Amino acid sequence: MTNFFRWLPALVLGMLISTGATWAQDKGAIKIVAHFPMSGPQSVIGEADWNGTQLALDDFGDEVRQFGFSLELQAEDDQANPTIGVANANRFINDPDVLAVVGHQNSGVTIPASEVYAKVGLAMVSPAATNPDVTKRESTRMVASRICGRDDVQGPAAAEFAANELKVKRIYVVNDKTAYGSGLAGAFETAAKSLGIEVLLSTGVDQNEVDFSSVLNRATVEKPDLIFYGGVYSQGGLIIKQIRQKKISAVLLGGDGLDSSDLQNIAGEENMVDVYFTTTSVPLSKLPDGEKFASSYKLKFGKEPEGYSAYSYDATRLVISAIAAAIQNSSGDKPTRDLVAAEVRKIRFDGLTGHVALNDRGDIEKAKYVVVAAGKKSSENNVVKVLEVAAPQD
Ligand code: ALA
Repeated sequence: MTNFFRWLPALVLGMLISTGATWAQDKGAIKIVAHFPMSGPQSVIGEADWNGTQLALDDFGDEVRQFGFSLELQAEDDQANPTIGVANANRFINDPDVLAVVGHQNSGVTIPASEVYAKVGLAMVSPAATNPDVTKRESTRMVASRICGRDDVQGPAAAEFAANELKVKRIYVVNDKTAYGSGLAGAFETAAKSLGIEVLLSTGVDQNEVDFSSVLNRATVEKPDLIFYGGVYSQGGLIIKQIRQKKISAVLLGGDGLDSSDLQNIAGEENMVDVYFTTTSVPLSKLPDGEKFASSYKLKFGKEPEGYSAYSYDATRLVISAIAAAIQNSSGDKPTRDLVAAEVRKIRFDGLTGHVALNDRGDIEKAKYVVVAAGKKSSENNVVKVLEVAAPQD
């Protein structure tokens, strides 16, 4: 065989890739729902999650298209509201073309919406929902997965940072009464107490509250060393602003809900002093292909990615590969939802965010936890440390 013929298959494949192969799509549509807070107070994050899913469709969609199906992403807006997320879920589960869900951003939406997905065996992979109950409930065991960490690790990691590195002694713990905020604050508080920290006040505020005077006026008198806030940036930014306006010198520490470029916009740059947060999404600057991803993202969407964009990208890649594997196991036919859900737990790859492999509960086998010193602008955020921790086994 001449060299030409030996290399012909590779040449043809190369031409297909370079010209952007189009596959016959005569077997109908397969849909993946991307379910995020696309509007409302967390829309900055929700849109960035959605953008991550679109980039993954661009990069990996052919894994499914090669079998003759069209592959679509269907955006659904949960508005970070459990009632809306559940109503959306009850509607789109009736579309037989929907074979998987990527989402949600918020544990408070993920938990009840996944009960709906479980009724019809529809796999859901969250890039960001960290409450332990996302994967601990028996009722959703077969369908609910995530590729981020958990608050029963994130909370204690934050407490250790507070005790051992910030060396605080007397603190306040505030939460937004959501599944995420109250769960994270509770895990933090238990660990903080066991490390000898005195909790002067532990309280919840309604997630729509914008005036924190009752808590903060007390803080002007008691002068806690640190205020822990379990909640999201849209409210966390206001708390930071009001703490600094009241000249309270406490450190503000929160969790991954604060991980948004809008934190600084809402708090005001001048108020971003002594602010830290933990997160389970490794910043792109610390990921081997992070800069490349950021460039493609900027090129396509004209803005910077947010904390969980890369995780949405990998969650979508996981779901696409699971659908492709399920098609192969169905002799090229459209697979059942149950089969896709089973494949989600079997797929393994080295993704943008690290090694993606789920255990039989739907948790990523090893998650990363990061402590970030928030800068005056999000571009000035500094990574203090990165931990890698195996998924809890309970
Ligand atoms: N990790 C946050 C949650 O679970 C965003 O709601």
